[in-house]
This record gives sequence, C-alpha cells and structure tokens, in this order.
Amino acid sequence: MSDQPNMSRRLLLGSAIAGAGLLGAAGGALAVGTGSTDPQTIAIPGERRRFVGKSVTITGATSGIGRAAAIAFAAEGAHVAFCGRRTRLGAEVEAAIREAGGEASYIEADVREPDSVAAFVTAAAERYGPPRIAFNNAGISFSRRLHETGIAEWDDTITTNVRGIFLAMRAQVPLMQANGGGVILVTSSANAAGARPGLAAYNTSKRSVLGLVQTAALEYAEDNIRVNAICPGATDTPMIRTQSNMNDVPDAVWQTGLRVWGRQNVHALKRVASAEEMALAALSLCSDDMNYLTGSAVFVDGGMTAAL
Ligand SMILES: NC(=O)c1ccc[n+]([C@@H]2O[C@H](COP(=O)([O-])OP(=O)(O)OC[C@H]3O[C@@H](n4cnc5c(N)ncnc54)[C@H](OP(=O)(O)O)[C@@H]3O)[C@@H](O)[C@H]2O)c1
Repeated sequence: MSDQPNMSRRLLLGSAIAGAGLLGAAGGALAVGTGSTDPQTIAIPGERRRFVGKSVTITGATSGIGRAAAIAFAAEGAHVAFCGRRTRLGAEVEAAIREAGGEASYIEADVREPDSVAAFVTAAAERYGPPRIAFNNAGISFSRRLHETGIAEWDDTITTNVRGIFLAMRAQVPLMQANGGGVILVTSSANAAGARPGLAAYNTSKRSVLGLVQTAALEYAEDNIRVNAICPGATDTPMIRTQSNMNDVPDAVWQTGLRVWGRQNVHALKRVASAEEMALAALSLCSDDMNYLTGSAVFVDGGMTAAL
C-alpha cells in the first residue's frame, strides 16, 4: 500500500514491454493516456464556479498536482497565488492561467525557509486578500533504504514535507482568524496508511502531517477554519516519473508502464490517477460541499489502500 511503490525503472520498462504486447493483442483498444497538464484538458464538471473571487494560496504549484489545482481553482473563478522554487515553470503556469482567462500570480518561495513562506503568504494576501483556501501541497520524495539514507536528504524531506506545512499554516491561520475563517488542505499520501521499503523519510513525513492536521482542526474550529489532508494514491506527475528514473524514456513507454503497473497495484480501480483528477478531488474537499469535514485524512487512491 503506497503511492510511491518502488516504481523501479526495471519494473516499469518490463511492464511497458509486456503492456505493448497486450496492446498489440488487443488491437490498440486501450487508449494511452496523455498525462497532459494542458489547461485546456481540465474539464470542470458542469462548468461549476464554486470559488469565484476567492483568495486561494497553493504551495508547490509549479508542477504536478499543485499545478493542476492552480489551473482548476482559477477555472472556477478563484484568485490563485501559488509558489514553488522553479521560476520559469511558475511563470509558465501563471501565463497559462491568464491566457485561459483566469487570475493567478506566481510568487517564488521555498517552503523550507520561514521568511520565504511568510513573505509568500503576505504577498498573496496583499494581492488577493486574506486566504479563504490554502492548499499546502509542496513535497519531495526520494527512494533509499533506511540505513543508506543520508542525514541531509532525511532532513530535507522532513523540512520540506512537514516543517513546510507547519510554516505555511502558521502564517495562514492568523489571517483566516481575522477574516472569518477558511479552509486548509494539506497533501499527505496513501503512504500515511501503509509503507513500502525505500521510503522511510517520505513515509514518516506523510504520517507526521496528519498530526498537524488533527491538532489544527481542533484548535481552530472555533475560528471557522476547517483543516484536512488529502492522501493521494499513485498519481502521474513528474515526482513519480523522476523517482522511477524514467524521464529519458518516451512518454508512450512511461504511460504503458504506468498502465500495467496500475493494473497490478491499484487494487480497485486498477490505474494511476492523473494530476487533474487529484486536483479536482482537492477542490471538492475545499468547497462548501464539505463544510462538515475537518480533522480528516481523505484517501483518494483508487482503492489502493483498501486491500490487505
Ligand atoms: N504523485 C504521486 O503519486 C503522489 C502521491 C501522494 C502524494 N503526493 C504528494 O503530492 C504533492 C505534490 O507532488 P506531485 O506528485 O505533484 O510532484 P511534483 O510534480 O514534483 O510537484 C511538487 C511540487 O512541490 C514543489 N516544491 C518542492 N519543494 C519545494 C520547496 N522547498 N519550496 C516550494 N515548493 C516546493 C515543487 O516546486 P519547485 O520544485 O519549483 O520548488 C512542485 O511544484 C507532494 O506533497 C507529494 O508528496 C504525490
């Protein structure tokens, strides 16, 4: 049970070759997913507009789930301030949203640094007003056995994945308290429910943030602040492709490997999620439809953690 289940290059390439055989046998009936993050590919069900004019901050939206969430929030009318360290990607996401008619601003920030996080939250509030919704999503991962894990990479993972969320919440909560409340959603992982070898720091970080979520939910309910975690299962993003050492293979090979891997490892739905699907789940959890949800860890994992 894990979202980062040792998608080794060898296994994925083996899957891709096997998958290619299956595809051939099926006459190509199984469509290869594009894994595209083109803003035009995000379909908002019923063209909903749940977040019109709302100030939304997102950490880690230069790629993957955060990027898809920034695009989806903006598509529903939110004013989105988002951060990440890679300025070129940040500018591209901002431009894509603006070209599609949305409102978004990229603000460079590193969630490991207290001053940087505080400056991001302040700048976002100055631009769009105090945050009504904060999606604290930035995270990193690497795979190495526990005794081979370096102190620096352990510290970097915990600092990014846990302290980064603490720092963001610490800056956001007073603004929400002073303005009638809000919603905080943090990105944990299916790894909060079960472990895989090679992911000691990551598994630890993703369980730790649930402690933050539960504590904050109890402390700030009286301020009308809901605090929850989304626990994604395996999702097709640059994180897992990089961790699998599969950036140098053609997209079709990556997609075929993922498809076969999903059939074998995602016990109910038998496929990995797209970043766009995970983003839409995050939007739902932040919407007023979920006003009674707080202190919860919601597993959006295609049934991966449902199996023994
Ligand atoms: N993909 C999955 O299967 C999966 C499953 C469960 C949970 N998750 C979680 O989902 C979240 C998003 O991951 P993803 O899969 O979308 O991966 P991704 O494409 O690699 O995105 C990670 C994002 O986090 C940002 N980030 C990392 N370190 C940062 C830092 N120090 N300061 C600011 N931003 C930082 C990155 O931006 P910069 O590099 O530009 O800083 C990037 O925008 C993570 O918390 C991850 O653990 C992913």
